[in-house]
Amino acid sequence: MESMKYRRCGQSGVLLPAISLGFWHNFGELTPESQSRAIARAAFDAGITHFDLANNYGPQPGAAELRLGKMLQDDFRGHRDELFISTKAAYDMWPGPYGSWASRKHLMASLDQSLQRMQLEYVDLFYCHRYDPETPLEETLQALVDIVRAGKALYIGLSRWPLEAAEKGYRYLRERDVPCLIYQGRLNLFDRQPLQEGILDSAQQAGVGFIGFSPLAQGLLTNRYLNGIPADSRMAHDPRFLKSDMLTPQMLQRIRALNDVAQQRGEDLATMALSWILQHEAVTSVIIGASSPDQLQRNLSCLKSAPFTEEELTIIQTIINK
Ligand SMILES: NC(=O)c1ccc[n+]([C@@H]2O[C@H](COP(=O)([O-])OP(=O)(O)OC[C@H]3O[C@@H](n4cnc5c(N)ncnc54)[C@H](OP(=O)(O)O)[C@@H]3O)[C@@H](O)[C@H]2O)c1
Repeated sequence: MESMKYRRCGQSGVLLPAISLGFWHNFGELTPESQSRAIARAAFDAGITHFDLANNYGPQPGAAELRLGKMLQDDFRGHRDELFISTKAAYDMWPGPYGSWASRKHLMASLDQSLQRMQLEYVDLFYCHRYDPETPLEETLQALVDIVRAGKALYIGLSRWPLEAAEKGYRYLRERDVPCLIYQGRLNLFDRQPLQEGILDSAQQAGVGFIGFSPLAQGLLTNRYLNGIPADSRMAHDPRFLKSDMLTPQMLQRIRALNDVAQQRGEDLATMALSWILQHEAVTSVIIGASSPDQLQRNLSCLKSAPFTEEELTIIQTIINK
């Protein structure tokens, strides 16, 4: 087993594992409880101390938090202080005008619900899951400050916020002595928006960590779809967010070309895709999903990947620019 590496999160006191585990898929009602437990236990045994959740992870919304709550009682009893647990609010959660977005009303009520589902007194990290263009920025940010002051979260994070709003957020939070711990954004070989839009650089300059989600593009950046759509894959059995029309001939061509590069490096595509993200100094951690302990363990091999040569990086760049 690889030994986990821990990276400092921005200029904070927090170390996060280079690989974190996400509960978006594989922890809801579509997955047997025994499978979820095996994945989470394998992660913890591998030194993955950070579990990433959100109010709406399921299906049904809330199911992943409920499942973690049960695991904290059964599987991880006595280990709470070894774990760093995050949750989020701002996507659709309950009907009516307060069930979504980033008003003080929604954020406060949603976090209380999350804590109840997970049977926790506090989370380590609470995120505003998306930027709300209709709510005054100060209302959202002050609610986050007050959540920390009320002891319901130790740290605050922002997810998917546009650059300018995020920078305002970093300033507002720092001025109130609740510095933003981390920015969460999608980053993988196919989606490099945080790099291209300066989100990574600006977080680093502000002393804020960065954590990348969907590092394997939901499985596209693995050997999963090289020869069709396997029946047990996300695309086949849970196509809520990964639809088969994403697997275009052009996409398949790019996946195969990247797979060739990975093979020449002596590793599989998933390993290379994760190493490519982790080579960026401003990245604190990547949040992977895994549908089995075996997948999770194989992905850990990115921790001992060789650095990329200039030539490899140029070839990769050419492929992903196509
Ligand atoms: N902030 C946000 O708005 C946001 C949005 C999305 C996600 N997230 C976070 O990011 C986490 C990860 O997202 P994700 O699940 O999309 O991550 P991902 O790592 O890109 O994709 C995970 C999926 O890829 C497949 N896979 C993983 N390792 C593999 C391997 N070695 N070989 C073959 N297939 C492999 C599995 O799918 P199969 O089922 O096909 O096996 C697995 O469930 C989420 O759980 C959540 O915590 C946050």
